Amino acid sequence: MIELNEIDKTYPHPVHPVAALKGITLRIEKGSFSLLMGPSGCGKSTLLNLIGGLDQPTSGDLLLGGRPTRDFSDADWTRLRQTEIGMIFQFFNLLPMLNALENVALPLLLRGDRPEEAKARARTALVSVGLGGRLDHRPSALSGGEMQRVAIARADVVSPQILLADEPTGNLDSENGEEILKLLSSRARAGVTLLLATHSPQAVPYADQVIHLKDGRVDRIDRIDRIDRTGGKR
Ligand SMILES: Nc1ncnc2c1ncn2[C@@H]1O[C@H](COP(=O)(O)OP(=O)(O)OP(=O)(O)O)[C@@H](O)[C@H]1O
Ligand SMILES: [Mg+2]
Repeated sequence: MIELNEIDKTYPHPVHPVAALKGITLRIEKGSFSLLMGPSGCGKSTLLNLIGGLDQPTSGDLLLGGRPTRDFSDADWTRLRQTEIGMIFQFFNLLPMLNALENVALPLLLRGDRPEEAKARARTALVSVGLGGRLDHRPSALSGGEMQRVAIARADVVSPQILLADEPTGNLDSENGEEILKLLSSRARAGVTLLLATHSPQAVPYADQVIHLKDGRVDRIDRIDRIDRTGGKR
């Protein structure tokens, strides 16, 4: 479970500090699929970055699986992102000089897994997103949808308990976007806690809840009947 208690985030600036999050209190259940929606600038990316430890709140408490994160060091967060938290971004953030297999194996190598083991796991992760035929392609030789599937495999490969995705379909056409949403929602059904920031109404039927942010606050939360594996409602 992800718990946020009275989280504030203000980006400092000598003249114009930005209060990006104001008093966010949320509980996100393990294995649930939540969407973060709201106008540009409402704080979606800021919230995801805090949960992934890429940035720290100005005040308030973030608990992951019951553990307060207040005293986590950068090394603790790095370790967490190598073992428990996967992140997916709008622009894929793949390394251009590495092929798909190397991109996906990288988080495992960085945490010290044996190279043969890392490659085998990376291959399995790429096969599971339908890219078994693209292992030695570099990102420049892949389509946008394929690049995002590589990024999902890279997030998956550490077997995370939490997946954070920031507009993962923002750069894709609706057909590719649908494929990515199906892949991501399958992870939530497998017990992963999935939090996805998006502007796309297309994502709503896949989710359990939509958290609407407005000007750095939770505006309202809508509960959704999630699409199940067969495409019908639960
Ligand atoms: N590094 C930063 N330094 C200063 N201000 C920032 C920084 N990052 C974001 N902001 C500001 O914080 C607010 C929230 O930004 P954030 O990126 O979280 O919005 P968002 O909801 O993800 O928007 P979008 O839908 O456009 O991606 C905005 O006003 C933005 O200008
Ligand atoms: Mg954003």
